[in-house]
Amino acid sequence: MTQSLTLTRPDDMHLHLRDGAMLSAVAPESARDFARALIMPNLVPPVATLAQAQAYRDRILAALPHGARFEPLMTLYLTETTDPADVARAAASGVVKAVKLYPAGATTNSHGGVRDLDKIMPVLEKMAEIGLPLCTHGEVTTPEVDIFDREAVFIDTVLDPLRRRLPELRVVMEHITTQEGADYAAQGGNLAATITTHHLILNRNHLLVGGIKPHYYCLPVAKREKHRLALRRAATSGNRAYFLGTDSAPHVDALKEHACGCAGCFTATNTMPLLAHVFEEDGALEKLEAFTSQNGAAFYGLPQNAAKITLVKSDHPTVFAPKIQSAAGPVTVFDPGFAVYWQVQA
Ligand code: DOR
Ligand code: ZN
Repeated sequence: MTQSLTLTRPDDMHLHLRDGAMLSAVAPESARDFARALIMPNLVPPVATLAQAQAYRDRILAALPHGARFEPLMTLYLTETTDPADVARAAASGVVKAVKLYPAGATTNSHGGVRDLDKIMPVLEKMAEIGLPLCTHGEVTTPEVDIFDREAVFIDTVLDPLRRRLPELRVVMEHITTQEGADYAAQGGNLAATITTHHLILNRNHLLVGGIKPHYYCLPVAKREKHRLALRRAATSGNRAYFLGTDSAPHVDALKEHACGCAGCFTATNTMPLLAHVFEEDGALEKLEAFTSQNGAAFYGLPQNAAKITLVKSDHPTVFAPKIQSAAGPVTVFDPGFAVYWQVQA
């Protein structure tokens, strides 16, 4: 029996494409299924100015397969020296769709991020004025705070006070991992949250029980099962406040399978089949399009994509390539740990 599902072509509202050899390897993986993606700016050095974003966008377009139709939506990396005027020009150019806040030390290449929120208030005020969204990596980095509590503490001590101080600021809580995150984002309006594919599938047992699984290590780290279930309810609810941001974050295997392994799950290759599986399992296939193709575009004020994507379900498990190759080394494709019968129709 074959089942098929045709959706508006999806957008990935949180994606790491890297640069150089890795960019060349991973850009085609996203372009195959997605129409647009919000590109994270945590390169070395970070993409912090309009000029850097324009140059990075050109490198992304050059890395796409011939004839690919894929639009990179650029972000700026917020630093304590970001110039509000440059941010305003970036927004007006149409190239830059958001600014990304990394608390210093929170994750990969975040050392140039923000330590003192007061220092970035002029930029945030400008963003509130012009309606440019702030995307937050929502974790505090204070060493006293347990890594599993970092998101909930960020909401209480950073995000909520910031939103009270600047109620007009549009905010996206990136890659939420907790019930607290899902509950806080539910209010919607000028607040939204992205949810990754892997956080709908993994809890912390998957990461740690029976041996440490480096390819399941990401940040924010996967939490207890009750949190995964809260994310599933949020994603499958159809609520406009939630949309897909895969946070697909490639690292070569040598750096994942390492004494100090990098954070990131590489899901660009198989995200859409995995999401079809997840939504079907929760009896919510009819909500998949809202999550992948409508809610994110609506929040960012973008038109919905005219192109479509068709997913088909067969009786045989889909075989995904276990790795993709890059000139920097192999990258492991996220393995959900269960059979998936959906695939994207070529
Ligand atoms: O798992 C993650 N990987 N989380 C992040 O916040 C950053 C990302 C990366 O860039 O590798
Ligand atoms: Zn990310």
